[in-house]
Amino acid sequence: MSGPFKLAPLPWDEKALEPTIAARTISFHYHKHHQAYVDMLNKLVEGGKFASMKLEEIVRATAEGREEKEKKIFNNAAQVWNHDFYWRSLSPAKTEPSPKLASAIARDFGDVSNLVSQLAEAGKTQFGSGWAWLVSKDGKLAIEKTANAMTPMARGVNCLLTIDVWEHAYYLDYQNARPKYLESVLADLINWDYAARNLAQEDNAVRAAA
Ligand SMILES: [Fe+2]
Repeated sequence: MSGPFKLAPLPWDEKALEPTIAARTISFHYHKHHQAYVDMLNKLVEGGKFASMKLEEIVRATAEGREEKEKKIFNNAAQVWNHDFYWRSLSPAKTEPSPKLASAIARDFGDVSNLVSQLAEAGKTQFGSGWAWLVSKDGKLAIEKTANAMTPMARGVNCLLTIDVWEHAYYLDYQNARPKYLESVLADLINWDYAARNLAQEDNAVRAAA
C-alpha cells in the first residue's frame, strides 16, 4: 500500500538476535505487526491534515485526542514510532554505555545492574500490553512504563531505550514467561550505543536552542 509512511528497514538481519529472539518472532513482529501499523496509519491519514506531518508530530498532536478517529491515528502512529525505536534499542553485538551515559547511570541508578533490574521490573509490572522505557527527563535518567501504544515521546520526554512487552514480542519464544524474555533481552541485546546517541541528541538540541 502506498502512502506517506513507510516501514523503516530493520537495523540487523532477522536472524541476528537469535537465540534470545528467534528470526520467526522478528519476522511476524516486523512484517505483520509493525507493517500493519504502517498500513493502517497510511489509510487513516489519507486526504487529511496529518498526511503531510512528520510521525513524531502526529503522535504528539493526537496523544490527547478524544475523537475516535484521532485515537486510532494516535495508536497506529505511536506504534510505528515505538517499533522503530524498539528495533534500534536492540543490538546483536555487545555494547557498553559511553563515558557520559555511564556517569549519568552512576548518578541516577548507582550502577548498570540496578538500572537493568528496574527496567525489567517496569516491564514485568506493566499490566497488559505496553512498553518499558529508559528516558531522560528534567536532567535525570528515569524508568517509565506505558500502556498499549502510549510513548513518553508523546509528552516531549527524551526516550533512550525501550522494550516491547506486548505478547507478540515474546510469545513464540517464551510463551507467557514475560520476565524471562525481559531478563534475556536486557542481558544480551541492550543497545547502549543507541541510548548514548539519544542522550547526546538532547545536549545538541539544548545547544541549538541556546
Ligand atoms: Fe510489538
